[in-house]
Amino acid sequence: MANGDQVPNYSLHRARGWLRIYNLFIRSKSGLALLLFLAFSAALSAGVANKFYQASLETYRAQKADEKTTALRLVDAFVTEYSSLRSQLGPTAPVPATFRAHSIEGFNKQVGSESKFRLRWVGREGRHITTPPADSAMAETIEAFASMADPKPQTMLKTIEGRLVLRTVYPSLAREQSCVSCHNQLQAGKTQWRLNDVMGAFAIDVPVAAFMEEIRTQSYGVGLLLFELLVTV
Ligand code: HEC
Repeated sequence: MANGDQVPNYSLHRARGWLRIYNLFIRSKSGLALLLFLAFSAALSAGVANKFYQASLETYRAQKADEKTTALRLVDAFVTEYSSLRSQLGPTAPVPATFRAHSIEGFNKQVGSESKFRLRWVGREGRHITTPPADSAMAETIEAFASMADPKPQTMLKTIEGRLVLRTVYPSLAREQSCVSCHNQLQAGKTQWRLNDVMGAFAIDVPVAAFMEEIRTQSYGVGLLLFELLVTV
């Protein structure tokens, strides 16, 4: 290769060659059919991967919903029982909300920082003593509970402060006269509570980024595998 401009000439020649083959290919019926088949396979694979992704998400949400709802039902049972017993402990005994907060703090210390979740007991928007709903979405869920005859816990995937979390919101009702009496005394002059009112909710937020990453990878895998199968038969 003594002459330097031989190389670009050669490349150009080769590119033209490919273009000619491509043109012949596109014009031929079987070439077009193959292209259509490839496009169809790609679309089908993407569709299946997407369905797989959605289905995995839904399975995960449903499984976790059971788990979180059970945990919150326990917390509800404990604070309700505590609320009815508290009067026997004297006026310096912590209120149920404080009892709950201290118990969960103790629990978090035991399990360590690995299972990071956030459990709150929040009130109704504008009717809380100290803790309002964490955000407007949570406030809406709770107000919806308040308008239902028999509100059921809800579990949803939500992006909160840029992070995807699995959120379970469990209605907190005034099941005990003690709830009503104490809150009404503390909130004298405001709308008064009645037995069985929705007073707020227990809410758990669990980050799910790692899990989502996993099923996203699996879904791409399913899509690619299907595409390969379709185009190699
Ligand atoms: C002896 C008084 C007392 C009793 C009994 C009591 N509460 Fe409370 N409750 C409080 C106080 C005080 C707070 C705020 C405490 C804090 O956040 O430090 C609170 C907080 C709450 C919150 C969080 C939202 C907010 O308003 O800050 C909810 C929801 C709640 N209570 C519901 C109930 C329910 C349901 C019961 C009955 C099972 C109950 N409470 C029994 C005094 C009481």
